[in-house]
Amino acid sequence: MKVLVTGGAQGIGLAVCEKLQDEGHQAISADVQEHANGVTLDVTNEESWADVLDVVGPLDGLVNCAGIRTRGLIVDTSYEEFQRHLSVNITGTWLGIRSIFRLQANRELSSDEPTVSVVNIASVNAVIAVPGQAHYVASKAAIVGLTKAAAIEGAPIGVRVNAIAPGAIRTPMTEERLIDPEQVAWLEGRVPVGRVGEASEIASVANFLLSAGASYVTGTTVFADGGWVANGV
Ligand code: NAI
Repeated sequence: MKVLVTGGAQGIGLAVCEKLQDEGHQAISADVQEHANGVTLDVTNEESWADVLDVVGPLDGLVNCAGIRTRGLIVDTSYEEFQRHLSVNITGTWLGIRSIFRLQANRELSSDEPTVSVVNIASVNAVIAVPGQAHYVASKAAIVGLTKAAAIEGAPIGVRVNAIAPGAIRTPMTEERLIDPEQVAWLEGRVPVGRVGEASEIASVANFLLSAGASYVTGTTVFADGGWVANGV
């Protein structure tokens, strides 16, 4: 499989690239940060997507992992900061899906061909709201809806679209929170498995959703959260 992974310079995206490579697939990391062995992509920019797809060509999979999160109560958040979250987290994901759909729509499909798979990265915050992150919560809830809508439109053109909703995962995004013992203790008490997750534990779910083993799975969001959501939304 040839798979493009956005946000692949670090964190969950990097772990997805490593997992795919370990499994013998070609993973192309794409990130707004310049990084070794990857391509530069700003997911919010249509031209940037076109440039990258011109270079990397047809794909068997796409993992929309690029994302941002800042904190701030609604009263303190600027219009620009709210828009920035929607732009990276939801418009960026939508542009990725549209790129794949356009590539697929131009192909002759045969019935025995494997489907192309898109994996979006949502969050437990799609269903668990927390104060001080309304912009993030809204953008992640939108990914769950977009995933369902895109799965319906993708099915006739041979594209499956699913999402993963991770719980608290140790990455540069969460570093600040996870060096605070109080925050870690709170999470360990709340999450039934009693620990923070590792990026590799999200990568293995992405690998499954990309694989032929998930050929009948589309339009769903898989919660990889140590049981956090099951413990009460
Ligand atoms: P991270 O901050 O470590 O990595 C995010 C990557 O996205 C960075 O490499 C960054 O340069 C890239 N990026 C940001 N804006 C971009 C843009 N405009 N174009 C291209 N790349 C861009 O974050 P992490 O933790 O690896 O998160 C990955 C995804 O997983 C995000 O969508 C995040 O919201 C989601 N997530 C993370 C959780 C966690 O606990 N770490 C929990 C739930 C969801």
